[in-house]
Amino acid sequence: MKSFKSIFISVFLGIVLIAIVLILNAKRPTVEVNQPSADFVRASGKCAECHRRTTSAVVHQFERSEHAKHGVSCLDCHKAVENQETQAHRGFTIAQHLTAKNCSECHSTEYSQFLRSRHAAPAWAAVSGAKDFTAEQIAFAEKYHKGAVERPANSLAIIEGESATIVGCYGCHDIGKPNSDGSIGNCTSCHARHSSSVALAREPETCGQCHMGPDHSQIEIYHESKHGVLYNAQKSEMNLKAPPKSLTTADMSVPTCVTCHLSGLDGLNVTHDTTERLSYWLFASISDKRPTYQQGQDAMKETCLKCHATTQIERYYQEAEQVVIDTNSKISEAVTLMQSLREEGLLTETPFDEPIEFIYFDLWHYYGRTAKHGAFMGGADFVQWHGNYELLLKMTEMKKIAQELRQNATK
Ligand code: HEC
Ligand code: HEC
Ligand code: HEC
Ligand code: HEC
Ligand code: HEC
Ligand code: HEC
Ligand code: HEC
Ligand code: HEC
Repeated sequence: MKSFKSIFISVFLGIVLIAIVLILNAKRPTVEVNQPSADFVRASGKCAECHRRTTSAVVHQFERSEHAKHGVSCLDCHKAVENQETQAHRGFTIAQHLTAKNCSECHSTEYSQFLRSRHAAPAWAAVSGAKDFTAEQIAFAEKYHKGAVERPANSLAIIEGESATIVGCYGCHDIGKPNSDGSIGNCTSCHARHSSSVALAREPETCGQCHMGPDHSQIEIYHESKHGVLYNAQKSEMNLKAPPKSLTTADMSVPTCVTCHLSGLDGLNVTHDTTERLSYWLFASISDKRPTYQQGQDAMKETCLKCHATTQIERYYQEAEQVVIDTNSKISEAVTLMQSLREEGLLTETPFDEPIEFIYFDLWHYYGRTAKHGAFMGGADFVQWHGNYELLLKMTEMKKIAQELRQNATK
């Protein structure tokens, strides 16, 4: 009796055990480890085969790109085009350097929009002036951005010296570098070299590589804004890979930098001209309206209105424009003070040789800009504590120094 019971228990336990193993196995993922995902195309050809062994990441980045899917080869990009120097390479002839010109062979529309933007020649000229551009390039850029290329080199760049300029200033401003093949800039700042992705370009952090810090705190402001908070919370539900020409609010119901500044949302035109939707020169010490004020503002509002009601957006713009007007008058006070000190002979004409010049520079370049940018992009803390409060503090410091300079002069 006893042995029958124990046999019964063992058989029963055995069946339970087998059932458990079967259930667990059924739940195991059936995909093979390392099986490529659907958006992966294995690159073939001599370049890829050899580079898989030497610089593997380049090949893997390429294999996930739209280029790989559409049969664009390594050599399609790496071959030399007009005016480019060549090099012999493992039985092939490839270009010494690739520029926007190589991309423009197949994407001429994007290149011509980019060329009109401040990301092109004006960005480079902001650091080193007009000297590196041809007369033709200057004339072209000046047509769209008067005074943005035909100007002297930036005095701060000169004072700080070559290494700071090359690794620092140009680290961001080379987005508009004049290339030896006659083209301007590169497309890889936003798309990367081999992933060539619109999803990457739609990430706020991509713009934040350069649009950061106290003088242009766009990324910090964005993360503080409702848009930024929602984006970070809901990013995984969005379709950042949607093709630009058919991007809808269903793909991205929350805007990132590009939605407002570049994207073709719900039938709007995609643009690589980042100036198209702007109405003020917010980066300037005193912000005037751009010549394209009305078109710029209409175009941006059209974007907002894909997601918002008119009353909301009109009120938002009214409040932001008031911040611009008030900031302008606060900065004007500082400008007048600096001018009168110069006229009284209490300051030299040389830039950045007296402490008050640094305070004045911080006042408009950090805090004035921050207040204005915060007002347009939803950053309350940047309008106030990092903006207006600092404006007040710096103005008080400037007045104190001015008073001391004047007292010392009459002694
Ligand atoms: C037989 C192997 C082999 C083949 C085929 C090959 N490469 Fe290379 N490639 C290399 C090696 C090795 C390097 C050097 C890596 C290093 O410097 O550490 C290199 C370097 C490069 C560089 C960097 C050059 C530089 O100096 O900055 C580029 C760009 C490049 N290859 C592109 C290509 C392209 C495009 C093709 C096909 C047209 C190709 N390669 C074919 C092996 C190969
Ligand atoms: C969409 C255009 C494009 C395609 C396609 C492309 N490349 Fe490149 N590649 C670039 C650009 C741009 C650079 C940067 C070159 C420069 O600065 O002169 C680059 C750089 C490289 C480098 C140097 C990388 C480094 O960091 O040192 C290698 C190696 C290279 N490519 C290999 C390849 C291979 C192999 C393929 C095909 C599997 C390929 N590329 C396909 C655009 C492309
Ligand atoms: C030989 C032609 C050719 C060259 C050169 C080329 N592309 Fe492309 N590119 C294509 C094709 C084809 C597609 C896919 C179809 C389309 O979207 O137009 C594409 C698509 C793209 C896309 C959209 C990708 C997406 O995620 O939807 C971007 C961005 C892009 N290319 C950037 C570049 C950049 C940057 C360069 C230069 C470094 C470059 N391309 C060079 C042909 C090219
Ligand atoms: C971290 C990236 C970065 C660095 C480093 C940088 N800049 Fe900029 N700079 C920018 C961005 C982004 C803007 C656009 C600001 C805006 O429009 O709000 C800008 C705007 C400017 C402007 C105003 C726009 C114009 O065309 O007049 C000038 C001038 C300028 N930078 C000069 C310099 C100089 C000189 C240096 C080095 C001493 C430098 N920048 C370093 C990213 C950078
Ligand atoms: C490699 C650095 C870099 C990256 C990446 C970059 N920018 Fe810029 N951007 C600049 C610089 C530098 C300027 C200032 C150019 C000038 O006015 O002289 C600028 C200016 C601008 C302007 C003002 C244009 C005008 O007419 O005043 C806008 C808007 C802008 N960028 C948006 C973006 C967006 C959106 C992204 C991301 C998709 C982005 N940028 C990525 C460097 C960069
Ligand atoms: C909700 C829409 C929206 C988002 C998101 C947004 N911006 Fe803006 N941005 C604006 C508006 C509106 C202005 C002011 C336009 C004007 O001048 O009328 C502006 C101004 C700017 C300027 C100032 C140009 C100048 O005149 O100095 C830059 C640069 C810029 N944005 C870059 C960015 C970057 C980078 C991001 C992401 C980190 C971003 N923006 C996110 C709407 C947006
Ligand atoms: C400031 C960042 C930035 C730079 C610089 C940039 N792009 Fe783009 N590009 C974008 C963004 C963002 C999109 C997607 C727009 C959208 O969301 O609708 C895009 C889309 C594209 C597309 C797909 C367009 C379509 O309608 O399918 C191509 C192709 C492309 N870019 C090529 C280029 C080329 C070529 C250059 C250099 C001349 C370049 N890009 C420079 C940000 C950039
Ligand atoms: C792609 C859609 C989209 C675009 C484009 C867009 N927004 Fe928004 N915005 C949103 C969403 C979603 C919210 C969160 C609404 C909610 O709380 O339900 C939001 C919230 C806001 C808020 C905060 C409202 C509050 O009190 O919580 C403001 C202000 C705002 N947006 C202004 C703008 C402005 C100005 C523009 C254009 C420059 C713009 N938005 C463009 C989707 C968008």
